[in-house]
Amino acid sequence: MNHDVTLVPFRSSDAALLSHWLLAPHVAKWYKEPQEHLDWALCPPVGGERAVIAVNGARVGYLRWQAVSREILDSVGLKEIPANSVDIDILIGEVSYVGRGIGPQALQLLIKHLREDTSIPLLGLTTSIHNHTAQRAYRKAGFRDLREYDPPGYGRCLLMVMSLSHEV
Ligand SMILES: CC(C)(COP(=O)(O)OP(=O)(O)OC[C@H]1O[C@@H](n2cnc3c(N)ncnc32)[C@H](O)[C@@H]1OP(=O)(O)O)[C@@H](O)C(=O)NCCC(=O)NCCS
Repeated sequence: MNHDVTLVPFRSSDAALLSHWLLAPHVAKWYKEPQEHLDWALCPPVGGERAVIAVNGARVGYLRWQAVSREILDSVGLKEIPANSVDIDILIGEVSYVGRGIGPQALQLLIKHLREDTSIPLLGLTTSIHNHTAQRAYRKAGFRDLREYDPPGYGRCLLMVMSLSHEV
């Protein structure tokens, strides 16, 4: 089946859908704080943005991204990552759409959008070292493994990055 993947604006009326996705077992396994994600989506912090992933018009997932300050990067032990790098989170909430290449396509759309902002040096995705589905998807989207680290409360994680400025 041909997937026409698009990123569409997140609306406050998407909150119930996002809540449903965050509680779905295949997502809840990796997203331990659903309420925090929901609150963030409804009222993003400065520099934070989000979108709904749609396939042939159907809403199937969620992306959020945020520029990260030097202070935050240092606090989680990522001292080599340049300030204003963008951290990305993604989920395909509709389980029947998982494993169809939609995550990588959605990430490629986001990368294209973020490339327009030349002040962004690097894009990063953090995933559990055990989330092999996510790691395969991110590699397909063009991200590479940088290193493992231990952000407080998330267990051992893998940081995957894509340089936009060729600095890292
Ligand atoms: C991680 C995620 C965004 C990847 O998007 P996706 O559209 O499913 O990615 P892909 O279709 O490219 O699948 C990635 C790989 O996982 C495999 N896979 C997908 N679903 C699977 C399943 N249920 N069981 C086993 N393998 C699976 C695919 O075969 C693919 O591997 P391959 O292309 O090397 O064969 C999506 O699976 C998801 O949202 N999962 C739940 C939430 C989550 O883990 N979010 C990321 C947190 S860091």
